[in-house]
Amino acid sequence: MDTIKLIEKLGQEHILEKEEYIYLITSCQKEETELLFEKARSLRETYYQKEVFSRGLIEFTNYCKNNCLYCGIRSRNTKAERYRLSKEEILSCADEGYQLGFRTFVLQGGEDNFYSTEEIGSLVSEIKKRYSDCAVTLSVGEREHEAYQYWHDCGADRYLLRHETATKEHYEKLHPPALSFEHRIQCLYDLKAIGYQVGAGFMVGSPYQTAEYLANDLLFLKKLMPDMVGIGPFIAQKDSPFAGFPNGTLEQTLLLLAIIRLTLPNVLLPSTTALGTIHPKGRELGILAGANVVMPNLSPVSVRKKYELYDNKICTGEESAQCLGCLSNRMDSIGYQLVSKRGDRV
Ligand code: 5AD
Ligand code: FES
Repeated sequence: MDTIKLIEKLGQEHILEKEEYIYLITSCQKEETELLFEKARSLRETYYQKEVFSRGLIEFTNYCKNNCLYCGIRSRNTKAERYRLSKEEILSCADEGYQLGFRTFVLQGGEDNFYSTEEIGSLVSEIKKRYSDCAVTLSVGEREHEAYQYWHDCGADRYLLRHETATKEHYEKLHPPALSFEHRIQCLYDLKAIGYQVGAGFMVGSPYQTAEYLANDLLFLKKLMPDMVGIGPFIAQKDSPFAGFPNGTLEQTLLLLAIIRLTLPNVLLPSTTALGTIHPKGRELGILAGANVVMPNLSPVSVRKKYELYDNKICTGEESAQCLGCLSNRMDSIGYQLVSKRGDRV
């Protein structure tokens, strides 16, 4: 196989055979990566020009009933200092975010049954009532179909649920037996059927991951056709069972961002905080590899450090306004512009 030819093929057909994806992931060298990034950027600019969309992330609870082996807020992590934001606190984050120019709010939390289906629904309705020009995204894990339907009826527009890995054997190495691969995938299809704009995704360089598993992720994404794909490097969390594993790399994450852009040309693709955590220019490089979204933190500064899914997470000490200003400058520095829009998929 010839890497350049594979890049050309992916650029034209937007899909490769599994073996071809594996080859591309394992043998792409420095110069070829440059070509890949150029193609990814140009495709991204066809749909989204030089605009970068922002999502105001409100991490409203770090309680979680699950025990994912990689995650810092897993229920067995007794060292995590737990917090929950009240409805008023969440709404004031949204108010502040709106003043700052955010037109999408992401309510993210651990799987925490403290908030009832109705309470989450009423938060969604209230934000939609105050700011009808904004999109509301939920990211609260696996729930029953009825809850997803109810929140959609309340006005929720989007839902983020990373699939984490499309390979069952791998899923079972990253999660305890209580979590089921089939259920997770079913949730994604349910969300799509209900009418959400759906975000899937995975970690790059997670323990036991292989190039074949990554190829499975790409083929799964091509089949699911999500509106968004969130990927970032795995970062070991010191109190988790995966504490001793190496982190995912900048290079491999950028490579996958570009491959995802070429596979799903108009997808919404965040340059994640995890990428910014493993490299000081990670988020800028992500944009230059084909990403078009950033997700700054809108949570109160007092709780930011506590929502540490992984070690050394960046942007845990700044005010929301500072975070936004900093990101906006970073995007300017590479010739892109952070815009104040809902940022729907075109
Ligand atoms: N490193 C990187 N990403 C992580 N996530 C959870 N734990 C880690 C970690 N240690 C990601 C998961 C989850 C998302 C909210 O954060 O993919 O879906
Ligand atoms: Fe909370 Fe995985 S630890 S969902």
